[in-house]
Amino acid sequence: MQIHDSPTPSVFKGADLGQGRGVYISTYGCQMNVNDTERMYSLLEMSNFAPVKTPEEADLIIVNACSIREKPVHKVYSEVGRYKKLREKNPRLKIGVGGCVGQQEKENLIKNQPLIDFVFGTDNIDSLPNLVSQVFSGPGKVIQTKFEHRAPYHVETLVRNPGVSTFVNIAKGCDNFCTFCIVPYTRGREKSRPMSHVVMDVRNLVKRGVKEVTLLGQNVNSYNSEDGADFADLLKKVATDTEIERIRYTTSHPKDFNEKLMHVMADHQDKICEYVHLPFQSGNSEILKRMNRGYTRELYIEKINQMKKIIPNLVLSTDIIVGFPGETEDAFQDTVSLATELEFETIFAFMYSPRPFTKAAQFTDQVEEPVKNERLNRLFEAHEKMAFELVKKYQDRTLNVLVESINEQGKAQGRSTQNKLVYFMGSSDLIGKTVPVRITQAFPSVFRGELQQ
Ligand code: SAH
Ligand code: SF4
Ligand code: F3S
Repeated sequence: MQIHDSPTPSVFKGADLGQGRGVYISTYGCQMNVNDTERMYSLLEMSNFAPVKTPEEADLIIVNACSIREKPVHKVYSEVGRYKKLREKNPRLKIGVGGCVGQQEKENLIKNQPLIDFVFGTDNIDSLPNLVSQVFSGPGKVIQTKFEHRAPYHVETLVRNPGVSTFVNIAKGCDNFCTFCIVPYTRGREKSRPMSHVVMDVRNLVKRGVKEVTLLGQNVNSYNSEDGADFADLLKKVATDTEIERIRYTTSHPKDFNEKLMHVMADHQDKICEYVHLPFQSGNSEILKRMNRGYTRELYIEKINQMKKIIPNLVLSTDIIVGFPGETEDAFQDTVSLATELEFETIFAFMYSPRPFTKAAQFTDQVEEPVKNERLNRLFEAHEKMAFELVKKYQDRTLNVLVESINEQGKAQGRSTQNKLVYFMGSSDLIGKTVPVRITQAFPSVFRGELQQ
């Protein structure tokens, strides 16, 4: 087997590497991966590959996979296994695996599933056209998973059809090493884009009709531009120096969320949405310590109370892990109480899943699967009961909804500044506009309403 693991070569933008071949990318994971898929399609299109809508039409299939939980590698193997018939029909078909699973598993993927022709890592996306052309032009497998430790993080946002709302990467990687998390191993060390590049990107997207951007990073609060600007400075700059109508960001880390950022959010509410996603993971300080999160239950509560004071009408969501090693019933109850008492409108909760390379996977006091499962159900139940009551306050209120799409029956879909999905009857000329919608039915994450004239 011929295996390359060379440093990333430069991109041959515009070269006819693709020769019109169809490319299909299947995507799992967080917004980072979704954004990376967009970048892959854009780069491949520039090299004359043609994006297609189904794997059946493709000469090139890429699985951009996530490894945050569960058995992601098995998911990849079973998806690739399903392409066996397509390969029999089309012997020219090439199959590759990227994303966090590519970075994590490297050559193991090819050893275990011979249908896979190439593997690439999270830092090798820009060399994808060259890498793929190597795959098409020769026998042998190609592997490229080197991290670009020395290179600065200079990547302009590449999206084919940005639509109304789009993501802009501001930082990559993570240096926090929470003991449960694989991201520091799959995305490498933390690096920030220069503030001027982010601002330029947002201005360009505005010219292309974009109304809302979500600034993306694994931990946006540790953003650190080469000119010394921090995340609060960046947010303020995007709000004051661009024509973008709405700004969101994700994800924040509680230990780094500072008062300066709260004031920037409060002072620029005309543009910056009053919504914060602030994962707490566990409501028990002992577990938080073992998670290496860098805050206690009390500190988290204090921070939320401070945010509620400074940012008017603040709306909160969070991520939670249940069944982390050593979590007792009492510790779990601390999590339930935090999830309900702090009034999160939405929670994203998961059963702890041991990940390769991570410290917590070695802890000897793992919680049994059925216990984790049962706790997760109890947490959702308790939270849902509270959230149903909480969102009643939106009933009959008129919210500003940015319209994203409309279907043939005239059902419009958009988001309010609170990050609620709102459905109402409208017309296609409303796409991209912010309109007042009176809420007639409010559920925890979806609202129905009527357009106000
Ligand atoms: N950078 C973000 C989280 C990114 S991962 C942060 O620090 O908040 C998204 C979520 O997946 C995490 O917030 C966590 O709740 C969950 N997660 C990460 N690793 C996990 C694991 N091993 N098992 C279960 N859930 C996990
Ligand atoms: Fe993972 Fe923690 Fe980094 Fe978030 S902050 S990506 S949970 S290591
Ligand atoms: Fe998954 Fe990687 Fe994102 S592990 S959650 S795709 S950073």
